[in-house]
Amino acid sequence: MRIVLKIGGSLVFPEKIDVELVKNVSKQIISLSKNHEFLIVVGGGKIAREYIGALKSIGKDDTFLDYIGMEVAKLNASLFMGALGENAPVEISNDFKHALTTLNLGKIPLLGGTHPGHTTDAVSSMLSEFVGADLFLRFTNVDGVYDKDPRKYQDAKKLSKITHEKLLEIVEGTKAEAGVNTVIDPLAAKILKRSNIKTIVCGKEELSNIKSVIEGKHKGTEIF
Ligand SMILES: Nc1ncnc2c1ncn2[C@@H]1O[C@H](COP(=O)(O)OP(=O)(O)O)[C@@H](O)[C@H]1O
Ligand SMILES: [Mg+2]
Repeated sequence: MRIVLKIGGSLVFPEKIDVELVKNVSKQIISLSKNHEFLIVVGGGKIAREYIGALKSIGKDDTFLDYIGMEVAKLNASLFMGALGENAPVEISNDFKHALTTLNLGKIPLLGGTHPGHTTDAVSSMLSEFVGADLFLRFTNVDGVYDKDPRKYQDAKKLSKITHEKLLEIVEGTKAEAGVNTVIDPLAAKILKRSNIKTIVCGKEELSNIKSVIEGKHKGTEIF
């Protein structure tokens, strides 16, 4: 299978860089690459939000803030350059064509942000579409998609299987601005829907067994 793997910036860099997570994920990906092709996207997370918050308070515009978020995400993605060893590309891909070329050269493409105006969730969905991915795997700081934000609503319910239409309905109201916390942003949900890309959203714990998740054994949310 061809798989786009998105790892939330909040997992790679919660309070400080989670080196063990980076090493562990890389090891699994190298091993799973015998049977699958992977492309990895990493988000901006806490550090991006710090910079975005600071620059916003100084009065910078949204497009500028997006550029900062993109750079931090690329910095987070570059952590995997070390751990992927000889499977790592020599540079982070700034666009989808570069990522596909990198994949065709036998390396594991790494991406952060690619363009202002959308999040790395949207990057992941466009990449999935562009490379014809069989599966989009999204690992985040929540264990699946809920009917509403579980951080805000105590009675939020986790959904184990939903359609792309339902996902879009859930996330439609989320704001499209730099640093926002969304399980999948609305633009990403639209792209996943239009290309009917099978998607799985899982929490951090399951990142320790990516093989099981690919095989459908997980506690997260499947979107079809
Ligand atoms: N319907 C929803 N289901 C699950 N999480 C949601 C939902 N709506 C908003 N969220 C929020 O999205 C957060 C995940 O996004 P974010 O913090 O940006 O993580 P990441 O670093 O993985 O991108 C969750 O912690 C949760 O509070
Ligand atoms: Mg996010």
